[in-house]
Amino acid sequence: MRTQVAVIGGGPAGLLLSRLLMRAGIDAVVLERRSRDRVLSRIRAGVLESGTADTLRRAGVGERMDREGQVHSGCYLSAGESLIRIPFGDLCGRNVTVYGQTEVTRDLYDAQEADGAVILHDVEDVALHDLDGDAPFVSFRHEGGEHRLACDYVAGCDGFHGPSRQAIPAEIRREFERVYPFGWLGILSETPPVTDELIYANHERGFALCSLRNPMLSRYYVQVGLDEKIEDWSDDRFWDELRARLPQGTADALVTGPSIEKSIAPLRSFVSEPMSWGRLFLCGDAAHIVPPTGAKGLNLAVGDVHYLSEALIAFYRDRDRGKLAGYSETALARVWKAVRFSWQMTTLLHRFPDNTGFDRRMQEAELGQLEASETGRRLVAENYTGAPY
Ligand code: APR
Ligand code: PHB
Repeated sequence: MRTQVAVIGGGPAGLLLSRLLMRAGIDAVVLERRSRDRVLSRIRAGVLESGTADTLRRAGVGERMDREGQVHSGCYLSAGESLIRIPFGDLCGRNVTVYGQTEVTRDLYDAQEADGAVILHDVEDVALHDLDGDAPFVSFRHEGGEHRLACDYVAGCDGFHGPSRQAIPAEIRREFERVYPFGWLGILSETPPVTDELIYANHERGFALCSLRNPMLSRYYVQVGLDEKIEDWSDDRFWDELRARLPQGTADALVTGPSIEKSIAPLRSFVSEPMSWGRLFLCGDAAHIVPPTGAKGLNLAVGDVHYLSEALIAFYRDRDRGKLAGYSETALARVWKAVRFSWQMTTLLHRFPDNTGFDRRMQEAELGQLEASETGRRLVAENYTGAPY
């Protein structure tokens, strides 16, 4: 087998990259470990920066997002009984679109399959070879046979646990990590959302988040300890804890119902530098992980794909290797800004086990400053809605 770009991973990053390349006349083959249904079964956040929404429209997969997605021009930070609104539109002229990542991925799969893209599912034992030469290839097993995919470039879009990042020699890689001492217990319920805009709640009992998917599908989270087990959290216990962390008016308005999905996810910040080595280029979770507090995971993946697709198009169209050479530096500049914002929001809104009274007062003072300062709220708005590429 031969292609121009081998894409490892059929999540949002891999699918979007393969689609942008195909629309520019560049051949790509996507190698995905799981089935289509398994990929689409993942419940993930979906707060799309305007750059992400524009990129999806440019890829020809924005129609359902524009029809079913909800444009939000603000969100709330709550502290005890106070609600601080961050009016994105008024402060920085940008907004976000709330549209689940699962739907983004579904739209990408539907469009790619309709256009005859080559996406191999249930692929096993993917290995990357000769990345530092001029004839890289990928070996893998599929449908019982061994295969070799020759290519010009490899895009590592295989998430945190995939093989691509590890294909960069350890002596070259610089890894930066912060593991947070808590997780998020998330619930999906077929109930009307308690709020029309997201509420990020700081409370002495811990963080909570009120989000949504559509007018009859709500998404809620509460911070829990790393030792918590999902089986110890009945729906009633979850609803009681969520109410306890929200302002009274919001708690009173909460409509509860049976969970249709409930899970606990750990939080970490992680960045691996560089994001390219020889003919390998990393995108998305393969190179970086952010805590969901800033809703940046999918948006960073799309930003990487924007930069890499532009670089590959410049190469194949004009034999210009400049953007490929600058990809890692360009992508990392955006990544670190988002990692900082996600870390700042996580530090501001969560209860850390070793928090002292001083730490608590610092959180209260920072929230008080946001309540009092339009400049402070503008900085949050600019980071949350994402800078232009
Ligand atoms: N071979 C082939 N495919 C693999 C392998 C492998 N060895 N390892 C992982 N994969 C696939 C996974 O099955 C997954 O479908 O790579 C894909 C990576 O997708 P994501 O993990 O969704 O990562 P990415 O596309 O970068 O999207 C980032 O997804 O996890 C969320 O919070 C994250 O919102 C962010 C977004
Ligand atoms: C979600 O809706 O799942 C969601 C929204 C915003 C976040 C994190 C998760 O910051």
